[in-house]
Amino acid sequence: MAIDQKLLSFFLLQLIHLLLVINLSNGQGLKLGFYQKTCPAAESIVKEVTHQHISLAPTIAAPLLRMHFHDCFVRGCDGSVLLNSTKNNQAEKDAGPNLSLRGYQVLDAVKSAVEKKCPGVVSCADILALVARDAVGVIHGPFWDVPTGRRDGRISNGSETTSLPPFFANITLLKQMFAAKGLNEKDLVVLSGGHTIGTSHCSSFSNRLYNFTGKGDTDPSLDLNYIVHLKRKCKPGDTTTLVEMDPGSFKTFDEDYYTLVNKRRGLFESDAALLNDNETRAYVKLQAATHGSNFAKDFAVSMIKMGKIGVLTGTTGEIRKHCAFVN
Ligand code: HEM
Ligand SMILES: *[C@@H]1O[C@H](CO)[C@@H](O)[C@H](O)[C@H]1NC(C)=O
Ligand SMILES: *[C@@H]1O[C@H](CO)[C@@H](O)[C@H](O)[C@H]1NC(C)=O
Ligand SMILES: *[C@@H]1O[C@H](CO)[C@@H](O)[C@H](O)[C@H]1NC(C)=O
Ligand SMILES: *[C@@H]1O[C@H](CO)[C@@H](O)[C@H](O)[C@H]1NC(C)=O
Ligand SMILES: *[C@@H]1O[C@H](CO)[C@@H](O)[C@H](O)[C@H]1NC(C)=O
Ligand SMILES: *[C@@H]1O[C@H](CO)[C@@H](O)[C@H](O)[C@H]1NC(C)=O
Repeated sequence: MAIDQKLLSFFLLQLIHLLLVINLSNGQGLKLGFYQKTCPAAESIVKEVTHQHISLAPTIAAPLLRMHFHDCFVRGCDGSVLLNSTKNNQAEKDAGPNLSLRGYQVLDAVKSAVEKKCPGVVSCADILALVARDAVGVIHGPFWDVPTGRRDGRISNGSETTSLPPFFANITLLKQMFAAKGLNEKDLVVLSGGHTIGTSHCSSFSNRLYNFTGKGDTDPSLDLNYIVHLKRKCKPGDTTTLVEMDPGSFKTFDEDYYTLVNKRRGLFESDAALLNDNETRAYVKLQAATHGSNFAKDFAVSMIKMGKIGVLTGTTGEIRKHCAFVN
């Protein structure tokens, strides 16, 4: 009997351990106000420095939001997107022209301000999650509470950026790549709304304007008048020109994205693809019809969820001293 009880409590402990591990990998090791005792000023410093930079250069908000997405989809939200390449290793940030991220200098400035106040306490992964939130806030987007406690990874591997969906992804591939990160169709259509801000290089969509299937044709799912408009901006082979993704309000976080997609004016094939699935199409249509009645709230929920992908917590990883280098 005594042995049975021992055995039982052993299995119970194993079960609790297992649940804990599952929870941790799901981001449950994070909590609100993780730095409340160790660095109470952390979040206000992040906010202040982010605001300073964006008020000087409003277009930097978009790439900061995108950077958090790219961090989370490759190896989890562990700050790996911020690491520099080394002699023997090509980092994520150097992995190919279609990544085209910018704004690293903002992260560096925020990190050094935080380090000044509390050296070695606040991770780069958390700083990036907070900066993305605050960047959206400055340009009139929604606010959300960011659970913190992420730790920084020590690996950044350029060849792993293939887990980022390409601009030409169809709805099947998009759903698959989001599901691989624990995100559902709702998250896909909601987070794609991030394309309400920012700019894109012509090369991320010019296949839709010229030679779509190799017959000198255009993408039939793209509005004809919009094709004419885009062709004026992007000549064949142009790899440098930037185009506003939500023309006229690319610096404001609003719900126009869904109105555009609904009018077949989503810029990327991946935007247009949202009309090829019942659930994502229904969401696009609802937001277009109601001027984004739920978008702000939904975006906050999905951003918190995205921010939990594959995080390192507890004693795993490290707190980098400088975001571009492992300690
Ligand atoms: C659904 C799959 C997605 C695809 C295929 C995709 C693709 C792209 C592409 C191709 C660009 C333009 C890059 C360039 O040519 O400069 C871009 C820009 C951008 N993306 Fe996405 N993206 C996706 C999801 C997201 C998500 C989830 C977010 C954030 C929540 C996001 C935020 C942004 C922002 C803010 C920009 C503008 C960046 C700037 O102004 O520099 N994207 N995206
Ligand atoms: C890290 O790489 C970025 C570009 O990716 C570069 O601007 C920066 O100077 C590098 N940092 C250092 C300290 O070498
Ligand atoms: C980087 O990732 C690729 C693909 O997953 C893998 O084959 C390679 O070994 C990795 N490189 C390093 C240095 O970890
Ligand atoms: C980058 O673009 C090229 C074509 O320009 C494409 O073959 C490649 O798959 C793209 N990679 C990603 C990750 O989007
Ligand atoms: C979607 O894209 C994937 C990968 O590029 C491809 O294998 C598949 O055939 C496409 N599906 C449809 C319905 O076009
Ligand atoms: C269009 O694509 C086809 C097939 O890839 C290629 O043979 C042709 O040269 C392209 N035409 C132009 C104008 O680029
Ligand atoms: C999508 O909706 C159409 C009609 O609205 C219906 O015929 C089809 O079965 C639906 N597909 C799925 C997968 O639910």
